[in-house]
Amino acid sequence: ELPQSADLIVFGGTGDLSMRKLLPALYHCDRDGRLSPETRIIAMSRGGLDDADFRGKVDAQVRGAVPIDDLNVWERFLGRLHHVSVDIGGEDTAGWERLGAMLAGHEQRTRVFYLASPPMTFGLFCRQLERVGLVTPASRVVLEKPLGRDLASARRINDEVGAIFDERQIHRIDHYLGKETVQNLLVLRFANAFLEPIWNSLWIDHVQITASETVGTPGRRGYYDHAGALRDMVQNHLLQLLCLVAMEPPSRNDREAIRDEKVKVLQALRPIVGGEVDRFTVRGQYTAGESGGEQVPGYLDEPDGTAPTETSRRVETFAAIRAEVKNWRWAGVPFYLRTGKRMPHRYSEIVVQFKDVPHSIFPGSAPNRLVLRLQPSEGIQLHIMAKEPGAGEVALKPVPLSLSFAETFTTRVPEAYERLLMDVLTGNPTLFMRRDEVEAAWRWIDPILGEWEAHGTLPEPYPAGTSGPAGAHELLGRSGRTWHEEA
Ligand code: BG6
Repeated sequence: ELPQSADLIVFGGTGDLSMRKLLPALYHCDRDGRLSPETRIIAMSRGGLDDADFRGKVDAQVRGAVPIDDLNVWERFLGRLHHVSVDIGGEDTAGWERLGAMLAGHEQRTRVFYLASPPMTFGLFCRQLERVGLVTPASRVVLEKPLGRDLASARRINDEVGAIFDERQIHRIDHYLGKETVQNLLVLRFANAFLEPIWNSLWIDHVQITASETVGTPGRRGYYDHAGALRDMVQNHLLQLLCLVAMEPPSRNDREAIRDEKVKVLQALRPIVGGEVDRFTVRGQYTAGESGGEQVPGYLDEPDGTAPTETSRRVETFAAIRAEVKNWRWAGVPFYLRTGKRMPHRYSEIVVQFKDVPHSIFPGSAPNRLVLRLQPSEGIQLHIMAKEPGAGEVALKPVPLSLSFAETFTTRVPEAYERLLMDVLTGNPTLFMRRDEVEAAWRWIDPILGEWEAHGTLPEPYPAGTSGPAGAHELLGRSGRTWHEEA
Protein backbone atom coordinates (compact mmCIF):
# COMPACT_ATOMS: atom_id res chain seq x y z
CA GLU A 1 0.00 0.00 0.00
CA LEU A 2 1.34 3.40 -1.00
CA PRO A 3 1.85 5.89 1.82
CA GLN A 4 -0.56 8.81 1.75
CA SER A 5 0.63 12.31 1.05
CA ALA A 6 0.97 14.40 4.15
CA ASP A 7 2.06 17.78 5.39
CA LEU A 8 3.83 17.62 8.71
CA ILE A 9 4.10 21.00 10.37
CA VAL A 10 6.47 21.08 13.32
CA PHE A 11 6.25 23.97 15.81
CA GLY A 12 9.59 24.31 17.51
CA GLY A 13 10.91 22.78 14.30
CA THR A 14 14.50 23.95 14.74
CA GLY A 15 14.69 22.98 18.43
CA ASP A 16 16.59 20.25 20.16
CA LEU A 17 13.89 17.57 19.91
CA SER A 18 13.37 18.22 16.25
CA MET A 19 17.07 18.08 15.40
CA ARG A 20 17.93 15.12 17.60
CA LYS A 21 14.84 12.93 17.28
CA LEU A 22 12.12 13.99 14.86
CA LEU A 23 14.17 14.74 11.76
CA PRO A 24 16.41 11.65 12.08
CA ALA A 25 13.27 9.53 12.55
CA LEU A 26 11.61 11.08 9.52
CA TYR A 27 14.74 10.51 7.48
CA HIS A 28 14.63 6.81 8.41
CA CYS A 29 10.96 6.65 7.38
CA ASP A 30 11.87 8.25 4.06
CA ARG A 31 14.77 5.88 3.52
CA ASP A 32 12.46 2.91 4.14
CA GLY A 33 10.03 4.24 1.52
CA ARG A 34 7.35 5.10 4.03
CA LEU A 35 6.84 8.75 3.00
CA SER A 36 5.00 9.52 -0.23
CA PRO A 37 6.94 11.58 -2.79
CA GLU A 38 4.75 14.65 -2.08
CA THR A 39 5.05 14.55 1.71
CA ARG A 40 6.43 17.81 3.12
CA ILE A 41 7.96 18.68 6.46
CA ILE A 42 7.43 22.30 7.41
CA ALA A 43 9.37 23.59 10.42
CA MET A 44 7.99 26.66 12.18
CA SER A 45 10.11 28.74 14.49
CA ARG A 46 10.97 32.30 15.37
CA GLY A 47 14.29 31.71 13.67
CA GLY A 48 13.99 33.95 10.57
CA LEU A 49 15.34 31.16 8.32
CA ASP A 50 14.32 30.48 4.76
CA ASP A 51 14.06 26.99 3.25
CA ALA A 52 17.67 27.01 2.10
CA ASP A 53 18.97 28.08 5.53
CA PHE A 54 16.96 25.38 7.22
CA ARG A 55 18.11 22.68 4.81
CA GLY A 56 21.69 23.82 5.41
CA LYS A 57 21.20 23.60 9.16
CA VAL A 58 19.75 20.09 8.92
CA ASP A 59 22.49 19.04 6.53
CA ALA A 60 25.08 20.25 9.04
CA GLN A 61 23.46 18.88 12.20
CA VAL A 62 21.56 15.75 11.21
CA ARG A 63 23.52 14.21 8.36
CA GLY A 64 26.32 12.98 10.60
CA ALA A 65 23.84 11.38 12.99
CA VAL A 66 22.06 9.08 10.54
CA PRO A 67 23.30 6.36 8.19
CA ILE A 68 23.47 7.65 4.63
CA ASP A 69 23.87 4.83 2.13
CA ASP A 70 22.52 6.72 -0.82
CA LEU A 71 23.08 10.45 -1.17
CA ASN A 72 20.05 10.72 -3.45
CA VAL A 73 17.83 9.69 -0.57
CA TRP A 74 19.39 12.33 1.65
CA GLU A 75 18.87 14.96 -1.06
CA ARG A 76 15.29 13.84 -1.51
CA PHE A 77 14.79 14.18 2.22
CA LEU A 78 16.29 17.68 2.31
CA GLY A 79 14.00 18.60 -0.57
CA ARG A 80 10.96 17.87 1.61
CA LEU A 81 12.03 20.43 4.19
CA HIS A 82 10.65 23.93 4.46
CA HIS A 83 10.84 26.62 7.08
CA VAL A 84 8.31 29.27 8.02
CA SER A 85 9.20 32.00 10.52
CA VAL A 86 6.37 32.80 12.82
CA ASP A 87 5.73 35.44 15.43
CA ILE A 88 3.96 33.36 18.06
CA GLY A 89 0.93 35.23 19.28
CA GLY A 90 2.42 38.55 18.19
CA GLU A 91 1.13 41.24 15.84
CA ASP A 92 2.99 40.01 12.80
CA THR A 93 0.77 37.53 10.98
CA ALA A 94 2.93 37.12 7.87
CA GLY A 95 4.19 33.70 8.99
CA TRP A 96 0.70 32.31 9.47
CA GLU A 97 -0.28 33.63 6.08
CA ARG A 98 2.73 32.05 4.45
CA LEU A 99 1.86 28.72 6.08
CA GLY A 100 -1.72 29.17 4.86
CA ALA A 101 -0.49 29.76 1.32
CA MET A 102 1.70 26.65 1.43
CA LEU A 103 -1.16 24.48 2.60
CA ALA A 104 -3.84 25.96 0.32
CA GLY A 105 -5.04 23.42 -2.21
CA HIS A 106 -3.81 20.50 -0.12
CA GLU A 107 -6.80 20.17 2.18
CA GLN A 108 -7.30 16.54 1.27
CA ARG A 109 -3.84 15.53 2.54
CA THR A 110 -3.23 14.25 6.02
CA ARG A 111 -2.18 17.33 7.94
CA VAL A 112 -0.22 16.88 11.13
CA PHE A 113 0.58 19.76 13.48
CA TYR A 114 3.36 18.60 15.76
CA LEU A 115 3.70 20.86 18.81
CA ALA A 116 7.27 20.40 20.02
CA SER A 117 7.18 23.72 21.85
CA PRO A 118 6.61 24.44 25.56
CA PRO A 119 3.16 23.25 26.71
CA MET A 120 2.00 26.77 27.61
CA THR A 121 2.03 27.57 23.88
CA PHE A 122 -0.23 24.68 22.80
CA GLY A 123 -3.53 26.48 23.27
CA LEU A 124 -2.28 29.58 21.52
CA PHE A 125 -1.00 27.63 18.50
CA CYS A 126 -4.26 25.78 18.14
CA ARG A 127 -6.25 29.02 18.27
CA GLN A 128 -4.00 30.60 15.64
CA LEU A 129 -4.40 27.58 13.38
CA GLU A 130 -8.15 27.79 13.71
CA ARG A 131 -8.16 31.55 13.15
CA VAL A 132 -6.31 31.25 9.85
CA GLY A 133 -8.54 28.34 8.81
CA LEU A 134 -5.90 25.61 8.70
CA VAL A 135 -7.67 22.95 10.76
CA THR A 136 -9.22 20.50 8.30
CA PRO A 137 -11.12 17.29 9.09
CA ALA A 138 -7.99 15.38 8.02
CA SER A 139 -5.83 17.29 10.55
CA ARG A 140 -4.17 15.75 13.55
CA VAL A 141 -2.29 17.41 16.33
CA VAL A 142 0.60 15.92 18.29
CA LEU A 143 1.36 17.24 21.79
CA GLU A 144 4.80 16.69 23.24
CA LYS A 145 5.23 15.90 26.91
CA PRO A 146 5.19 17.00 29.68
CA LEU A 147 1.60 18.08 29.21
CA GLY A 148 1.38 20.90 31.73
CA ARG A 149 3.07 21.05 35.11
CA ASP A 150 0.27 19.77 37.31
CA LEU A 151 -3.31 18.56 37.02
CA ALA A 152 -4.81 22.05 36.74
CA SER A 153 -2.52 23.18 33.92
CA ALA A 154 -2.88 19.84 32.10
CA ARG A 155 -6.67 20.24 32.22
CA ARG A 156 -6.43 23.78 30.95
CA ILE A 157 -4.26 22.72 28.01
CA ASN A 158 -6.54 19.78 27.25
CA ASP A 159 -9.54 22.13 27.28
CA GLU A 160 -7.83 24.64 25.02
CA VAL A 161 -6.68 22.06 22.49
CA GLY A 162 -9.98 20.21 22.83
CA ALA A 163 -11.88 23.37 21.85
CA ILE A 164 -10.28 23.19 18.40
CA PHE A 165 -9.52 19.50 17.81
CA ASP A 166 -11.60 16.38 18.55
CA GLU A 167 -10.09 13.91 21.02
CA ARG A 168 -9.71 11.49 18.10
CA GLN A 169 -7.44 14.00 16.32
CA ILE A 170 -5.23 14.62 19.38
CA HIS A 171 -2.08 12.53 19.83
CA ARG A 172 -0.35 13.03 23.19
CA ILE A 173 3.06 11.56 22.72
CA ASP A 174 5.09 9.59 25.20
CA HIS A 175 8.01 8.27 23.22
CA TYR A 176 8.59 5.39 25.66
CA LEU A 177 5.45 3.78 24.26
CA GLY A 178 7.11 3.63 20.85
CA LYS A 179 10.14 1.70 22.09
CA GLU A 180 10.31 -1.79 20.66
CA THR A 181 10.67 -3.59 24.00
CA VAL A 182 7.81 -1.66 25.51
CA GLN A 183 5.51 -2.96 22.81
CA ASN A 184 7.07 -6.34 23.30
CA LEU A 185 5.96 -6.30 26.89
CA LEU A 186 2.37 -6.45 25.70
CA VAL A 187 3.23 -9.35 23.42
CA LEU A 188 5.13 -11.13 26.18
CA ARG A 189 2.21 -10.79 28.56
CA PHE A 190 -0.70 -11.35 26.20
CA ALA A 191 0.63 -13.69 23.52
CA ASN A 192 2.13 -16.21 25.95
CA ALA A 193 0.12 -18.23 28.40
CA PHE A 194 2.74 -19.17 30.94
CA LEU A 195 3.13 -15.80 32.68
CA GLU A 196 -0.48 -14.91 33.37
CA PRO A 197 -1.08 -17.43 36.21
CA ILE A 198 1.89 -16.08 38.16
CA TRP A 199 1.50 -12.39 37.24
CA ASN A 200 0.04 -11.30 40.57
CA SER A 201 0.70 -10.69 44.25
CA LEU A 202 0.76 -14.41 45.06
CA TRP A 203 3.92 -14.91 43.03
CA ILE A 204 5.47 -11.52 42.54
CA ASP A 205 7.38 -9.89 45.39
CA HIS A 206 7.89 -6.49 43.80
CA VAL A 207 8.53 -4.65 40.54
CA GLN A 208 11.33 -2.17 39.80
CA ILE A 209 11.23 0.30 36.94
CA THR A 210 14.45 2.18 36.30
CA ALA A 211 15.37 4.81 33.70
CA SER A 212 18.97 5.64 34.39
CA GLU A 213 20.86 8.20 32.32
CA THR A 214 24.52 9.18 32.30
CA VAL A 215 23.88 12.57 30.72
CA GLY A 216 23.54 15.67 32.83
CA THR A 217 21.54 18.73 31.85
CA PRO A 218 24.10 21.12 30.35
CA GLY A 219 22.34 23.97 28.58
CA ARG A 220 18.91 22.69 29.65
CA ARG A 221 18.53 24.34 33.05
CA GLY A 222 15.88 26.75 31.74
CA TYR A 223 13.64 23.78 31.05
CA TYR A 224 14.82 21.49 33.78
CA ASP A 225 14.51 23.94 36.70
CA HIS A 226 10.79 24.03 36.05
CA ALA A 227 10.38 20.35 35.32
CA GLY A 228 12.58 18.14 37.46
CA ALA A 229 12.74 14.37 37.23
CA LEU A 230 9.22 13.81 38.53
CA ARG A 231 7.56 15.87 35.79
CA ASP A 232 10.13 15.06 33.11
CA MET A 233 10.24 11.27 33.47
CA VAL A 234 7.99 9.82 36.18
CA GLN A 235 4.63 11.43 35.40
CA ASN A 236 4.81 10.09 31.87
CA HIS A 237 7.45 7.50 30.92
CA LEU A 238 7.71 5.55 34.17
CA LEU A 239 3.99 5.57 34.91
CA GLN A 240 3.26 4.36 31.39
CA LEU A 241 5.62 1.45 31.91
CA LEU A 242 3.98 0.70 35.24
CA CYS A 243 0.61 0.63 33.47
CA LEU A 244 1.80 -1.90 30.91
CA VAL A 245 3.17 -4.19 33.61
CA ALA A 246 0.09 -3.92 35.81
CA MET A 247 -2.85 -3.67 33.37
CA GLU A 248 -5.45 -6.40 33.01
CA PRO A 249 -5.57 -8.27 29.69
CA PRO A 250 -7.53 -6.09 27.24
CA SER A 251 -10.17 -7.84 25.18
CA ARG A 252 -8.84 -6.47 21.89
CA ASN A 253 -5.63 -4.95 20.59
CA ASP A 254 -7.22 -1.63 19.89
CA ARG A 255 -6.86 1.96 20.89
CA GLU A 256 -9.69 2.16 23.38
CA ALA A 257 -9.38 -1.31 24.91
CA ILE A 258 -5.71 -0.86 25.76
CA ARG A 259 -6.06 2.68 27.01
CA ASP A 260 -9.12 1.75 29.09
CA GLU A 261 -7.04 -0.83 30.95
CA LYS A 262 -4.13 1.56 31.48
CA VAL A 263 -6.32 4.24 32.93
CA LYS A 264 -7.75 1.76 35.43
CA VAL A 265 -4.23 1.12 36.71
CA LEU A 266 -3.58 4.85 37.17
CA GLN A 267 -6.85 5.20 39.01
CA ALA A 268 -5.87 2.31 41.28
CA LEU A 269 -2.56 3.88 42.32
CA ARG A 270 -2.66 4.40 46.05
CA PRO A 271 -2.33 8.14 46.69
CA ILE A 272 0.84 9.17 48.48
CA VAL A 273 -0.11 12.12 50.65
CA GLY A 274 1.05 14.15 53.63
CA GLY A 275 3.69 12.50 55.79
CA GLU A 276 3.83 9.46 53.51
CA VAL A 277 5.56 11.53 50.87
CA ASP A 278 8.64 11.60 53.04
CA ARG A 279 8.54 7.85 53.56
CA PHE A 280 7.73 6.72 50.06
CA THR A 281 9.57 9.20 47.84
CA VAL A 282 13.18 10.29 47.45
CA ARG A 283 14.59 13.16 45.47
CA GLY A 284 18.21 13.89 44.72
CA GLN A 285 20.37 16.37 42.86
CA TYR A 286 23.78 15.55 41.40
CA THR A 287 26.88 17.32 42.58
CA ALA A 288 30.28 17.35 40.87
CA GLY A 289 31.80 13.95 40.28
CA GLU A 290 33.25 11.57 37.77
CA SER A 291 31.13 10.38 34.90
CA GLY A 292 32.39 8.30 31.99
CA GLY A 293 35.99 8.84 33.08
CA GLU A 294 35.65 12.63 33.17
CA GLN A 295 35.23 15.17 35.94
CA VAL A 296 31.82 16.78 35.46
CA PRO A 297 30.18 19.71 37.27
CA GLY A 298 27.19 19.44 39.57
CA TYR A 299 23.71 20.49 38.47
CA LEU A 300 24.12 24.00 39.87
CA ASP A 301 27.39 24.54 38.02
CA GLU A 302 26.30 23.22 34.62
CA PRO A 303 27.26 25.75 31.94
CA ASP A 304 24.00 27.39 31.02
CA GLY A 305 24.66 31.05 30.41
CA THR A 306 22.68 31.96 33.52
CA ALA A 307 23.32 31.72 37.25
CA PRO A 308 21.43 29.05 39.20
CA THR A 309 18.48 30.34 41.19
CA GLU A 310 16.67 29.21 44.33
CA THR A 311 14.47 27.08 42.05
CA SER A 312 17.59 25.39 40.67
CA ARG A 313 18.67 24.48 44.17
CA ARG A 314 15.36 22.78 44.84
CA VAL A 315 14.86 20.87 41.62
CA GLU A 316 15.43 17.10 41.60
CA THR A 317 17.59 15.39 38.99
CA PHE A 318 16.82 12.05 40.60
CA ALA A 319 13.54 10.67 41.90
CA ALA A 320 12.53 7.35 43.41
CA ILE A 321 9.06 6.36 44.56
CA ARG A 322 7.49 3.33 46.17
CA ALA A 323 4.12 3.04 44.49
CA GLU A 324 1.31 0.57 45.05
CA VAL A 325 -1.56 -0.49 42.82
CA LYS A 326 -4.59 -1.10 44.98
CA ASN A 327 -6.54 -3.83 43.26
CA TRP A 328 -7.10 -7.57 43.58
CA ARG A 329 -4.13 -8.53 41.42
CA TRP A 330 -1.53 -6.23 42.95
CA ALA A 331 -2.45 -5.29 46.53
CA GLY A 332 0.68 -5.41 48.69
CA VAL A 333 3.19 -5.52 45.80
CA PRO A 334 5.48 -2.49 45.80
CA PHE A 335 6.30 -0.90 42.45
CA TYR A 336 9.59 0.95 42.85
CA LEU A 337 10.17 3.69 40.29
CA ARG A 338 13.53 5.34 39.83
CA THR A 339 15.10 7.74 37.39
CA GLY A 340 18.15 9.99 37.46
CA LYS A 341 20.63 11.99 35.46
CA ARG A 342 24.38 11.46 35.82
CA MET A 343 24.00 7.90 37.00
CA PRO A 344 26.81 5.37 36.40
CA HIS A 345 25.15 3.67 33.39
CA ARG A 346 22.57 4.45 30.75
CA TYR A 347 19.87 1.81 30.86
CA SER A 348 16.14 1.49 31.20
CA GLU A 349 14.58 -1.69 32.45
CA ILE A 350 11.68 -3.29 34.20
CA VAL A 351 12.51 -5.95 36.78
CA VAL A 352 9.80 -8.27 38.01
CA GLN A 353 11.07 -10.05 41.07
CA PHE A 354 9.24 -13.21 42.04
CA LYS A 355 8.89 -14.53 45.57
CA ASP A 356 11.47 -16.93 46.85
CA VAL A 357 10.75 -20.66 47.01
CA PRO A 358 8.53 -21.42 50.02
CA HIS A 359 11.05 -23.86 51.43
CA SER A 360 14.56 -24.26 50.17
CA ILE A 361 16.39 -27.56 50.36
CA PHE A 362 19.59 -25.98 49.01
CA PRO A 363 21.68 -23.28 50.58
CA GLY A 364 22.00 -20.02 48.67
CA SER A 365 18.76 -19.90 46.70
CA ALA A 366 17.67 -16.53 45.37
CA PRO A 367 14.34 -15.42 43.93
CA ASN A 368 13.71 -15.47 40.17
CA ARG A 369 13.84 -12.21 38.32
CA LEU A 370 12.40 -11.32 34.96
CA VAL A 371 14.32 -8.41 33.47
CA LEU A 372 12.91 -6.53 30.49
CA ARG A 373 15.65 -4.40 29.06
CA LEU A 374 14.32 -1.42 27.10
CA GLN A 375 17.69 0.06 26.23
CA PRO A 376 20.45 -0.31 25.33
CA SER A 377 20.76 -3.91 24.06
CA GLU A 378 17.03 -4.62 24.13
CA GLY A 379 16.11 -8.01 25.45
CA ILE A 380 14.40 -10.17 28.01
CA GLN A 381 16.12 -12.22 30.68
CA LEU A 382 14.69 -14.66 33.14
CA HIS A 383 17.11 -15.31 35.97
CA ILE A 384 16.70 -18.86 37.21
CA MET A 385 18.65 -20.84 39.77
CA ALA A 386 20.95 -23.51 38.37
CA LYS A 387 23.41 -25.92 39.85
CA GLU A 388 27.02 -24.98 39.38
CA PRO A 389 28.80 -27.93 37.76
CA GLY A 390 30.96 -29.88 40.19
CA ALA A 391 31.03 -33.09 42.15
CA GLY A 392 31.05 -31.53 45.63
CA GLU A 393 28.21 -29.98 47.58
CA VAL A 394 25.36 -28.62 45.45
CA ALA A 395 26.10 -24.97 44.81
CA LEU A 396 23.46 -22.69 43.28
CA LYS A 397 23.96 -19.87 40.88
CA PRO A 398 21.45 -17.55 39.21
CA VAL A 399 21.82 -17.81 35.43
CA PRO A 400 19.88 -15.93 32.78
CA LEU A 401 17.65 -17.46 30.14
CA SER A 402 18.31 -14.72 27.72
CA LEU A 403 16.63 -13.29 24.65
CA SER A 404 18.61 -10.62 22.84
CA PHE A 405 16.64 -8.89 20.12
CA ALA A 406 19.80 -7.99 18.21
CA GLU A 407 20.86 -11.65 18.06
CA THR A 408 17.41 -13.08 17.37
CA PHE A 409 16.17 -10.58 14.82
CA THR A 410 18.43 -9.14 12.18
CA THR A 411 16.13 -6.28 11.23
CA ARG A 412 17.09 -2.85 12.52
CA VAL A 413 15.28 -1.85 15.72
CA PRO A 414 13.49 1.37 14.79
CA GLU A 415 13.68 4.40 17.06
CA ALA A 416 10.56 5.10 19.08
CA TYR A 417 9.84 8.30 17.17
CA GLU A 418 9.79 6.51 13.81
CA ARG A 419 7.08 4.19 14.95
CA LEU A 420 5.05 6.95 16.57
CA LEU A 421 5.35 9.37 13.67
CA MET A 422 4.15 6.66 11.30
CA ASP A 423 1.26 5.92 13.66
CA VAL A 424 0.25 9.58 13.54
CA LEU A 425 0.48 9.65 9.75
CA THR A 426 -1.61 6.48 9.44
CA GLY A 427 -4.03 7.51 12.17
CA ASN A 428 -3.37 4.91 14.85
CA PRO A 429 -3.54 6.47 18.33
CA THR A 430 -3.15 3.27 20.40
CA LEU A 431 0.35 4.20 21.56
CA PHE A 432 -0.64 7.76 22.50
CA MET A 433 -2.08 8.92 25.78
CA ARG A 434 -5.73 9.68 26.10
CA ARG A 435 -6.84 12.76 28.01
CA ASP A 436 -8.11 10.78 31.00
CA GLU A 437 -4.78 8.91 31.26
CA VAL A 438 -2.68 12.05 31.39
CA GLU A 439 -4.97 13.60 33.95
CA ALA A 440 -5.08 10.48 36.11
CA ALA A 441 -1.28 10.44 36.14
CA TRP A 442 -1.16 14.08 37.26
CA ARG A 443 -3.78 13.42 39.91
CA TRP A 444 -1.38 10.94 41.53
CA ILE A 445 1.72 13.11 41.05
CA ASP A 446 0.20 16.39 42.31
CA PRO A 447 0.24 15.65 46.07
CA ILE A 448 3.87 14.51 45.86
CA LEU A 449 4.87 17.71 44.08
CA GLY A 450 2.84 19.75 46.53
CA GLU A 451 4.49 18.18 49.54
CA TRP A 452 7.98 18.56 48.05
CA GLU A 453 7.34 22.20 47.29
CA ALA A 454 5.83 22.91 50.71
CA HIS A 455 8.66 21.20 52.50
CA GLY A 456 11.48 23.66 52.14
CA THR A 457 14.07 20.86 52.34
CA LEU A 458 16.57 20.50 49.53
CA PRO A 459 16.99 17.34 47.46
CA GLU A 460 19.61 14.90 48.77
CA PRO A 461 22.94 15.41 46.99
CA TYR A 462 24.60 12.52 45.11
CA PRO A 463 27.92 12.79 43.30
CA ALA A 464 27.71 12.53 39.51
CA GLY A 465 28.52 8.98 38.43
CA THR A 466 26.89 7.33 41.47
CA SER A 467 23.54 5.58 41.61
CA GLY A 468 21.51 8.24 43.39
CA PRO A 469 21.29 9.39 47.00
CA ALA A 470 21.43 7.13 50.04
CA GLY A 471 17.69 7.58 50.57
CA ALA A 472 16.99 5.65 47.37
CA HIS A 473 18.76 2.60 48.75
CA GLU A 474 16.97 2.93 52.09
CA LEU A 475 13.63 3.05 50.29
CA LEU A 476 14.11 -0.63 49.40
CA GLY A 477 16.56 -1.53 52.13
CA ARG A 478 13.90 -0.99 54.82
CA SER A 479 12.12 -4.08 53.55
CA GLY A 480 15.30 -6.04 52.87
CA ARG A 481 15.24 -5.43 49.11
CA THR A 482 17.91 -3.97 46.81
CA TRP A 483 17.87 -2.24 43.45
CA HIS A 484 18.89 -4.36 40.50
CA GLU A 485 22.03 -2.56 39.31
CA GLU A 486 23.68 -2.69 35.94
CA ALA A 487 26.67 -5.02 36.16
C1 BG6 B 1 12.75 12.82 27.59
C2 BG6 B 1 13.20 13.69 28.72
O1 BG6 B 1 11.35 12.71 27.58
O2 BG6 B 1 13.31 11.53 27.73
C3 BG6 B 1 14.72 13.75 28.79
O3 BG6 B 1 12.68 15.00 28.57
C4 BG6 B 1 15.30 12.36 28.79
O4 BG6 B 1 15.15 14.46 29.95
C5 BG6 B 1 14.73 11.51 27.67
O5 BG6 B 1 16.71 12.47 28.63
C6 BG6 B 1 15.17 10.07 27.77
O6 BG6 B 1 14.76 9.38 26.62
P1 BG6 B 1 15.49 8.04 26.18
O7 BG6 B 1 14.70 7.57 25.00
O8 BG6 B 1 16.90 8.42 25.85
O9 BG6 B 1 15.40 7.12 27.35
